[in-house]
Order: sequence, then C-alpha cells, then structure tokens
Amino acid sequence: MIKLVSINLTLGKGTTLERHVLKDLSIHIADGEFVVLIGGNGAGKSTLFSLISGYRLSDSGAIWIDDQEVTKIPQHKRAAFVSEVMQDPKVGTMAHMTIEENLSFALMRGKRRGLTLHDCVKRRAFFREKLARLDMRLEDRMHELVGNLSGGQRQALALIMAIVGGSKILMLDEITAALDPKTAANVMRIAADVIREEGRTTLMITHNMADAIHYGTRTILLTNGQIGKCYNQDEKAQLTPALLINEFSMF
Ligand SMILES: Nc1ncnc2c1ncn2[C@@H]1O[C@H](COP(=O)(O)OP(=O)(O)O)[C@@H](O)[C@H]1O
Ligand SMILES: [Mg+2]
Repeated sequence: MIKLVSINLTLGKGTTLERHVLKDLSIHIADGEFVVLIGGNGAGKSTLFSLISGYRLSDSGAIWIDDQEVTKIPQHKRAAFVSEVMQDPKVGTMAHMTIEENLSFALMRGKRRGLTLHDCVKRRAFFREKLARLDMRLEDRMHELVGNLSGGQRQALALIMAIVGGSKILMLDEITAALDPKTAANVMRIAADVIREEGRTTLMITHNMADAIHYGTRTILLTNGQIGKCYNQDEKAQLTPALLINEFSMF
C-alpha cells in the first residue's frame, strides 16, 4: 500500500526556474495494484517517483508505505521497500559486471528483507529461474558481461534486478521509451507478466497510450502536478489512444 497525503513540492526554490511541481497531491494505491501514470512532459510524473523512492523529500504532506510513514526517511533506507527501473537500460545495469554479478548486487539491496541467499548453488538456481521467464536465454549466459547485451535484453535484466531485490513496490519510468517498437512491445509484455506473477504493487509511467489502456488496473492522468483524471478498468475498456490523447488537452 502506498498513500500520499497532500503532497507539495517546489523545485528550483529561489531561482528563476522555481516551480511548484506537485500541488496538494493525494493518491492511495492498494496492495497489488498496477497503476499507470500518464501526462505531458513536465507534468511531475518522475518527480512523484522521486518522492516515493526518497530521492527527494516533499515540502509538506505525508507518504506512507504500508503502516510506516516514510515521509522523512532517506533513499538508502527505502531501498528495501521500493525499486525503480528507468528509461535508460544502462542506468539500471552495470556493463562491466556479469549478469550473475548484477543480479547478486540487486539481491544484496533486498537483504534487509531476509532475501540474501548465501548458498551459491541455490542463488544461481534462483537467478536462472527468474531469467528463464524472459524467454531470452539469458539464463545460459550468466557469466557474460552485461555490456554484451542488447538494449532490450539489458532492460529486461534491469526489470529482473528490480524484482530479485524483493521490494514491495516496483516503479517503472518510461522503461520502453529508448527501445525500438518491437523490443519495446516485448519488454512491456514481459514486464506485465512478471508484475502479474509476482503480484507486486506497481507504478508505471508511459507515453505509449495503447500500453496505458491495455496494462494496469488503473490509469491516472497527471496534469501540472495534480490528478487530472483517473480511469478504472471499466473506463479503460471504453478508451482509445486517440481519446486518451485528447484528454491531455482537456485537463
Ligand atoms: N531541479 C529543478 N529545478 C526546477 N525545476 C525542475 C527541477 N527538476 C525538475 N524540474 C521541473 O519539474 C517539472 C516536472 O518534472 P518531471 O517530474 O521530470 O516531469 P515528467 O516526468 O512528468 O515529464 C518540470 O517542469 C521540470 O522542468
Ligand atoms: Mg519523466
């Protein structure tokens, strides 16, 4: 469960760039929900993620994850709660380390949740099982350097790294934006499968309107740091990409 209560955040305070990015924003996301966030450039979507991850702290308001208030808890102490995958596959993975080393690193992040597997054989089997879901045969390449992988493979690996950390909340920020259309669709399908199987509470930012309609349990349109519109599953079923784009200018 994630609860944001009356969040305000101004960035660039005291400069000519000063901007009230999030305005009295309140959102409640239940366990296991898959919420898709859409909105124009600069709407505040990534900033909202940075508040949940703890990269930024809000000026006012409160953030709860389950029954713990995390409003003032710094990022490194929230790593066990939240994991994020970004647009650039290079950001989420380390090129000069092998696939297995990358996954071991991700596992370490989640160790406060008791997920550290000390036994090498068991750990490798755990990684193989997770990688096999990608259907990219990466489970047979665990000792290869990640720098050898394609963008799509690296992004899929970044997703698995976010999963093995064991955090309750998964945040995906335009994870397919840097990929070619075919790879993007493949990575999106894999992400949706993994989210469904793992039952993780998920927030996903996308500019792909078809994905925003097709995936997730709820879609939220963020406009100027506020919720412009919310669509539940029945409402999503009535939408088309053209209708959704039209809503951007109405809110
Ligand atoms: N350090 C900063 N100083 C001032 N404004 C900023 C800063 N960082 C981001 N912003 C502004 O905050 C707004 C929201 O940015 P962001 O959350 O990245 O938007 P989105 O992800 O929805 O495209 C944008 O207008 C951006 O220019
Ligand atoms: Mg963004």
